[in-house]
Amino acid sequence: MHTHRFLVTGGQKLKGMVKVGGSKNAALPIIAAALLTDEEVVLTNVPDIADVAVFSKILQAVGVETHYDGDCFKILAKTVKNIEVEHALVSKLRGSSLLLSPLLVRNKEVRLAFPGGCVIGKRPIDAHLDAFKALGAHVLASDEFLHLKTDQLVGCDFTMTEASVTGTENAIIAAGQTTIRLAASEPHVQDLCHFLNAMGAKISGIGNHTLHIEGVDKLHGAEHRVTSDYLEAGTLVIAAAITGGEVTVQDIRPHHLDVFWQKLREVGVQFELGDDYVTVFPSNHLKAITLKTAIFPSFPTDLQAPFATLLTKAEGTSSIFETLFEGRLQYLHELEKMGLQPRTLSPYRAEFAGPVQLKAATVASWDLRAGAAVVLAALAAEGQSEITDIYYIDRGYAKFEEKLRSLGAKIERVE
Ligand code: EPU
Repeated sequence: MHTHRFLVTGGQKLKGMVKVGGSKNAALPIIAAALLTDEEVVLTNVPDIADVAVFSKILQAVGVETHYDGDCFKILAKTVKNIEVEHALVSKLRGSSLLLSPLLVRNKEVRLAFPGGCVIGKRPIDAHLDAFKALGAHVLASDEFLHLKTDQLVGCDFTMTEASVTGTENAIIAAGQTTIRLAASEPHVQDLCHFLNAMGAKISGIGNHTLHIEGVDKLHGAEHRVTSDYLEAGTLVIAAAITGGEVTVQDIRPHHLDVFWQKLREVGVQFELGDDYVTVFPSNHLKAITLKTAIFPSFPTDLQAPFATLLTKAEGTSSIFETLFEGRLQYLHELEKMGLQPRTLSPYRAEFAGPVQLKAATVASWDLRAGAAVVLAALAAEGQSEITDIYYIDRGYAKFEEKLRSLGAKIERVE
């Protein structure tokens, strides 16, 4: 953990073009799935973020060769050691739960400290464990420790306890001949399936909530370009809109964000969508809305905090309804330091009146997306803000401040 902070001077209208990088939430399960083969896997468009670096260290700890150069990540899992992975590494990211499935498949046993990550509510891992049980694994877990064992994983037809993203990904990686119902269908889940198919798997129903997986004898090495990060794209779009700037965000997949575009239109943000880009134009009058998060293809929880920050500029009372996480409204306390007057109605609901001219303040990142949200607020605020705890932002946004600076933002990283 480092002590870096961002200093942001607000008031600059962002201008120019910026390219979105590869998806964090796709890269992690794909890297995990690469352990299913003893042949080389070559991934491109892998984002240069702390979560990928930690993942790479965990892989090396279990004897897997990794090589990261530019955005190219190579993995060679000739052997995978059956050891307990060091708690210090696993506890750094919640996504390390994704290693349960490939390690279980390779060694018929896995012991992993309870995964860490962002502090956003309880985030139960039950959906993962239920899926493993359905597939024939014995779960010998305690509260801090996960221990899975199997004589033989067996294909079946089962329904996820809830449409958990990484839970679904674990189930897909561990599954043989299987039907998974109530599968999460986020773009990163889809990308994992495409990658597995490139390795020789036969997965159909990609993008739906029912996935059919045909059993195959063996998976082989493959090359794959990680899909573009729709959450980074959404964040950059909001950066443009909140500053009243004119920005083109390139290399996006517009259909990953359908409800996001609907909500932007409802607010009154002017933009033009192309096949793989969006241009945001300055907008005069923004209107308050109700924002409700839900599983894909609805409005993503990961863009709730950034979008709510834009709503501070909208006229009227905006309501936020976060239906997935119970701890994802804390950034509102930070925005309060900047002059917003939010009313928190429950751990899931809040409302506030706008428009508000935000004022500079020292504000903290509560998690990855809450961190991005306070940076966005600072871009629109009067004066110089200081953002602390930015290691959360570094976990998932590659070169965040460099990208913003290339658009004219006044943001610098200081110790
Ligand atoms: N949940 C529901 N209903 C559902 C599905 C989930 O209420 O149908 C609740 C869960 O109970 C939990 C929360 O939603 O409280 C998230 O559950 P999930 O298991 O889907 O989350 P995850 O797999 O641990 C992934 C992403 C998160 C992202 C969530 C939700 C990765 C590595 N992580 O987490 O990403 O917020 O899905 O989309 O893919 C981030 O990128 O900032 C991040 C935290």
